[in-house]
Amino acid sequence: MDVLVINGPNLNALGSREPEIYGSTTLADLEAGLVAQGAAAGLEVGTFQSNHEGEIIDRLYQAQQDGAKFVIINPGALTHTSLALRDAFASVRIPFIEVHISNVHAREEFRRHSYLSDLAVGVMAGFGGYGYTMALDFLINRLELWG
Ligand code: DQA
Repeated sequence: MDVLVINGPNLNALGSREPEIYGSTTLADLEAGLVAQGAAAGLEVGTFQSNHEGEIIDRLYQAQQDGAKFVIINPGALTHTSLALRDAFASVRIPFIEVHISNVHAREEFRRHSYLSDLAVGVMAGFGGYGYTMALDFLINRLELWG
């Protein structure tokens, strides 16, 4: 697998969860689009969603074992709370892009802080599901990143 797309807590409910904020696209549709986008560029994209912090951390170590080159992650609320997820990224050293469907900076104050952003290659926020597409497009077009 070249790129692993991880979605954190409550993103399983995309499409029905607060659609005025997160839109009407389901997670399955979003993931299928990214897999197809990667395949068209010759990249294997894997997907993973969990509502459990520890499972996401375990999946990151598995990705390291598998030799994944990049991670695109929407950590959901773990963005604002999880020192453990931060430590996991610092440990596995897989470059990652942080994605938020909503513009977290235009919402509640507590969504403005991320434990991950300073470790990320970059951060997308506020572009809806298209933020994942742009993140993958960046990875596809910056071939020099691939060594
Ligand atoms: C989110 C923003 C987070 O603050 C929130 O907890 C989420 C989704 C987003 O995609 O906009 O679960 O990461």
